[in-house]
Amino acid sequence: MNVQINLDRLMGRIFALGEIGALRGGGVKRLALSDEDRAGRDLVIQWMEEAGLQITTDVIGNTWGVRAGSKDAAPVIIGSHIDTVATGGLYDGALGVLAGLEIIQALNDAGAVTCRPVGVAFFTNEEGARFAPDMMGSGVAQGALDLDEMLSVQGIDGKTVREELLRIGYAGKASVLALRPHCFLELHIEQGPVLEAESLAIGAVTGVQGISWTEYVIEGQSCHAGTTPMVMRHDAGLVASQIAVEARAIANDFGPPQVATVGMFDVSPGLVNVVPERAVLTVDLRNTCDETLKKAEERLNRAAEDFAVAQGCKVDRRSLARFAPVEFDLGLVGEIESHAKSLGYSVRLMPSGAGHDAQMFAPNCPTAMVFVPSKDGLSHNIKEFTAPEHIAPGVDVLLRVVLGQAELAS
Ligand code: HGY
Ligand code: MN
Ligand code: MN
Repeated sequence: MNVQINLDRLMGRIFALGEIGALRGGGVKRLALSDEDRAGRDLVIQWMEEAGLQITTDVIGNTWGVRAGSKDAAPVIIGSHIDTVATGGLYDGALGVLAGLEIIQALNDAGAVTCRPVGVAFFTNEEGARFAPDMMGSGVAQGALDLDEMLSVQGIDGKTVREELLRIGYAGKASVLALRPHCFLELHIEQGPVLEAESLAIGAVTGVQGISWTEYVIEGQSCHAGTTPMVMRHDAGLVASQIAVEARAIANDFGPPQVATVGMFDVSPGLVNVVPERAVLTVDLRNTCDETLKKAEERLNRAAEDFAVAQGCKVDRRSLARFAPVEFDLGLVGEIESHAKSLGYSVRLMPSGAGHDAQMFAPNCPTAMVFVPSKDGLSHNIKEFTAPEHIAPGVDVLLRVVLGQAELAS
């Protein structure tokens, strides 16, 4: 049976989806549950319908389309996300969903029969940029996050997940535990520099590092920038800055793979001649080792308290996301590696620095990911790019793992 990927069709769909939420000057902004997300969902569902798939949407908007197999069995699911960050690219998430659709289309074109059903899925709010935490839809679908709690999450613009899900018409009927795959596979851009630096075609991903997102709110006292002696000040902006510097110091002191990012930093009233009375910042800490990640969290929280006391300020913190490191299925990772080699593609084992929907499936079914290189290691940047000739090997390898897992009959 000759099941052939049509790379032009896949690239055409990547560019078509990339038109939705396209930013002037390149890149994409399709924040979760926004109008752009809705339009992206509608387009992918249209393609699922054209492929003749049985489509389901669950109560938090996760959507999947399944191609029947010759036996009624748990499906092989290929999934990822179509929401993006505000400075997103064409490939983060979209590649995984559209590659899954392309594999199903190729099965249809070949009139192939698989024993197991094969499905393609997109999950709600993988990015967590508008509504924290990330991997929200897949986390709920796999029992890692509570549905009601997630529906009540208020986004950075004050809207809740529940109201936005209803507004865009994607509050489905299926229960959150409706999706029980035989195995889960995700193709994704690496979003980092490793594969390109080592001139490798494929990453066989061994797992995902731990993720810790914390929001710090510092209350100080506004006062006159000119008349107030330094010793009298309760400068919330200073405390926030010290926390940000300490986050970087932790990453420097711990060394790789520890990373630390202050992504959101806001002082109020934000005026040139007023000492800030309030500051809010977020810190994203990650490490492949959970013990070390905990040490980083403890050190930062202790320092935040000390900085606040020294300034006569108050600091409150809340966790926005906390996921322990995850290991993928060794058998599936081995299949990815051996298919890559037999297809003549250079390949290496590597952990994922970014979070992915796959990590939510790993505790419940055999799960693995395939990486393809990112140009200049860039992602969450409008210049995100992966050339078609670097995408093709990833889809090739994914196809072969799917054919094996779905037991291609004829
Ligand atoms: O934050 C992440 O790693 C992913 O992009 N949601
Ligand atoms: Mn992603
Ligand atoms: Mn992302």
